[in-house]
Amino acid sequence: MQETLKAVVNAPSHDETMPMLSVRNLSVEFPGMSGRSVKAIHQLDLTIQQGEIFGLVGESGAGKTTLARALMNLPPEPGRITGGEVRLNGIDLLQLAEGNLRSMRGRDLSMIVANPRSELNPLRPVGEQIATMARVHLGLSRSQAQAKALEMLRAVQIPDPERRMKALPHELSGGMAQRIVIAIALICSPRFVISDDATSGLDVTVQAQILSLLRNLSEERRSAMLFITRDIGVAAHFCDRIGVMFEGQMLEQASKEDLFLRPRHPYTIMLMAAFSHNETLRRLWWSAAGAEAARPDSQGCRYAHRCPLAQLRCFSTVPEAREITPGHAIRCHFPVIR
Ligand SMILES: Nc1ncnc2c1ncn2[C@@H]1O[C@H](COP(=O)(O)OP(=O)(O)O)[C@@H](O)[C@H]1O
Ligand code: SF4
Ligand SMILES: [Mg+2]
Repeated sequence: MQETLKAVVNAPSHDETMPMLSVRNLSVEFPGMSGRSVKAIHQLDLTIQQGEIFGLVGESGAGKTTLARALMNLPPEPGRITGGEVRLNGIDLLQLAEGNLRSMRGRDLSMIVANPRSELNPLRPVGEQIATMARVHLGLSRSQAQAKALEMLRAVQIPDPERRMKALPHELSGGMAQRIVIAIALICSPRFVISDDATSGLDVTVQAQILSLLRNLSEERRSAMLFITRDIGVAAHFCDRIGVMFEGQMLEQASKEDLFLRPRHPYTIMLMAAFSHNETLRRLWWSAAGAEAARPDSQGCRYAHRCPLAQLRCFSTVPEAREITPGHAIRCHFPVIR
C-alpha cells in the first residue's frame, strides 16, 4: 500500500497522457424516508486533465458538495459511496487505506469550502495553522514553515501579513478568514484542488486575485482543479471546461466555448436563461424551476418533470451520457439543435 501511495505522490508531472482526475460511475446515496435511499450522485463520470480548471455549475441541491466530498472519500454524513471509482493520477482513492488518504489530503489534494469558520481552529493563531500544514506535509523546519506561511498570506492579499500571522480567527473578517483557509489549502501546492463555492462571498477584486492565484497554481504545477460555483459568469471567465449538474447527474460537459456558444441540453439553456440580462428569459427559468422537489428516484430523464421539450420517451427511458462532438457530452434524448 505504501508503494501505491508513493506512486501517487511521486508520479511524474510531465506524464500528460494520464488525466489528473478520473471518476467513473460514481454513486452516493443518503438514507431516505421509509427505507428508500436518495441517490444524491448517480453513476457520474468526470475527467479532469493536468493543468485544467473544470467548472461545475448547477442549482442548489444538485449534488455539487456531495460530489466534492466524495472525491476526497469523505461523503457528508450519513451519505455512503455505493459504487464507482475515483482515480487521482491513476490510483483509486476509494481503495486506499484511511491512513494513506489522510496524509494525502492537504498535500496532494485539498478542498476549499465556503464557511471558513468551521475549518479554522478558533484557539490557534492563523499563521501557525498555515505553517503547520507545511511542517507536517512538506517536512519544513519551524522557521521555514513560518516564512512560507507569510509568503502565502501575501499571495492571498492579506494586508499587514506579519501582524495577521498572530491573529486568532475571530479577530479577522469573514473575507479574510476565507483567504486564510485558501492559504492553508494551497501552501503545499496540491496537484488537485477543489473549491466549493469558496470565492463567491469575497469582494470582487479579491475574488479576481484569488482566481488568478489558482490559475497560476494550475499553470506552474500543472495542478487540476474542480471549481464549483453558483455563478455561471465566473465559470465562463475562469474555467477551461464546464459541467452542468442536476439531481446528481452531469447533464452536459464541454469546453467553455462549446458550452456557451453551442449548448445542447435543455437544462443548460434554461440555466443560462436564469443568468441572462433578458427579463423574459429569466422569467422563463423561474416559471420552470422549482416546479417539483427532487424525487428519490426516476424512471426516465431526471429533468423530465421540468423540461419544456419533454416527450413521452423522456418519462420512461433514462438518457445515457453520449458524446455528440469530441469532448462535448450530454444526457438527453432530444438535444437542442441550432
Ligand atoms: N447531510 C445530508 N443528509 C441527507 N441528505 C443530504 C445531505 N447532504 C446532501 N443531501 C442530499 O443530497 C442532495 C445534494 O446536496 P448537495 O450536495 O449539498 O447539493 P449542492 O451542493 O449542489 O447544493 C440534496 O438535495 C439532498 O437530497
Ligand atoms: S431527455 Fe427529454 S426531458 Fe430530458 S432533457 Fe432531454 S428532452 Fe428534456
Ligand atoms: Mg453545495
